[in-house]
Amino acid sequence: MEKENTNQTSNISSALASGPDSGIDLVYYPDEVLRQHAAAVKDMDDSLRTTIERMVGLMRQARGIGLAAPQVGILERFFVVQIDSEPAQVFINPSIVGTSHETGMYEEGCLSIPGLYADVKRPTEIQVQAWNQNGRPFTLNADGMLARVILHELDHLNGVLFLDYLSERKREKLLQKYRKPQDSQQ
Ligand code: NI
Repeated sequence: MEKENTNQTSNISSALASGPDSGIDLVYYPDEVLRQHAAAVKDMDDSLRTTIERMVGLMRQARGIGLAAPQVGILERFFVVQIDSEPAQVFINPSIVGTSHETGMYEEGCLSIPGLYADVKRPTEIQVQAWNQNGRPFTLNADGMLARVILHELDHLNGVLFLDYLSERKREKLLQKYRKPQDSQQ
C-alpha cells in the first residue's frame, strides 16, 4: 500500500523502483499478474529471505508502507509491511482468523497503481496468523493503519486490488486519470 497522497510523481517511483541492482521491479496495473491467485510458500529458505530483503528495500525507496510478492511478479503468498519508524514486518502464508464488525473508511493508494487514491471501507480490527522470515509462526492483533495495510496486502495475494471495492462509476472515473509508468531501464 502507498502512503496517503504525497504528490509523488509516477516518474520518481518508477525510476527508484527499477534500480539496476535491485533484482526486482514493481509490476504495474493492469498487468495480469496482479489478478492471479498466489500459491502458498513451501520453503522458507535463504532465497526467500533475500527476496524479502529486496522487497523491503523497494518498498522503502518507493515510499510505500506495504508490498506484496505479486507486485514484483512473484506469485507466492507473502508480503512486507512497514509503518512509520516501526521495523519492517514479514507475513508468509498469512490468514485472517478474525475481523471486527466495526468498519472504517480511509484513503488508500497502491504502489502498483501510482497516482490513484480512493476511500476504501475495511474492518478496523483484525487477527492475522502468519509465519515470519525465520519460519516461525505468529498471531497478531492489529488495528488502525496496520490492520488496513495487512488487509490491502493480503488482497494482493488473491488478485484483489483496492479499485475492486469502488463502484463501477467511481472506478472508471478514477482510471481515466491513470497512466501506467514506463519501464525506465530496459
Ligand atoms: Ni497495493
